[in-house]
Amino acid sequence: AYSKIGIIGAMVEEIELLHKHVETTGTFVKAGITYVQGTLHGREVVFCKSGVGKVNAAVCTQLLIDAGVDCVLFTGVAGAVDPSLNIGDIVVSTTCLQHDMDCTPLGFAQGQIPFQEVSEFIADPQLVEVATNACERLFPGRSKKGKVLSGDQFIASREAVHKLYEDLGGACTEMEGAALAQVCVMNGIPFVVIRAMSDNADGSAHVNFAEFTVEAAIHSHQIIEDMIQQL
Ligand code: 5AD
Repeated sequence: AYSKIGIIGAMVEEIELLHKHVETTGTFVKAGITYVQGTLHGREVVFCKSGVGKVNAAVCTQLLIDAGVDCVLFTGVAGAVDPSLNIGDIVVSTTCLQHDMDCTPLGFAQGQIPFQEVSEFIADPQLVEVATNACERLFPGRSKKGKVLSGDQFIASREAVHKLYEDLGGACTEMEGAALAQVCVMNGIPFVVIRAMSDNADGSAHVNFAEFTVEAAIHSHQIIEDMIQQL
């Protein structure tokens, strides 16, 4: 059993329910980011709002690990890449890849980090299973396990999302997961990324993004709370 669970969200919508439900015992600030320590369903947790993008996510993940967490969960929203996913549906990461890592002119595959053995980071199988069970219980038939594609870009065109699906086989796309995943793998710490769909990554949902983000972030949070009770 994990003794201290780290949880990261990138945006306020993704962590406001943690602020509501975690019984806070303390906070600390590092690199301009506030980390909240406390208990959730009797389990010790530390969570933070990383901000958007891979650098923010990487820094937060390392600082959570330095603060003694023994696993890291991401809770948040993403654009659907697999066309069978609808708004509010959930993706549980099996692996994470930086889709914008592009050294193809040097002969490396898209997403491959040069001179490094592993570029696709594997989520912890037990965390994946616990998350999948939570999804089946709370949102039957509305979740998928799959590859999370991360990049420092908001994907909002049919061509871009089609390419991510065809070329890289992604389930969803977002801007933090693979950074968190890489830092966890570098430290030997288990992780899983939970993402509920806020948009279709095809440019169609801009007007509804704020509204759908709130709805999707609630779904992701519910999975996290269920997981905490099973871990
Ligand atoms: N492309 C990239 N990131 C997305 N996010 C939601 N939808 C998308 C998308 N289509 C997530 C990112 C980031 C914020 C803008 O929302 O992870 O944190």
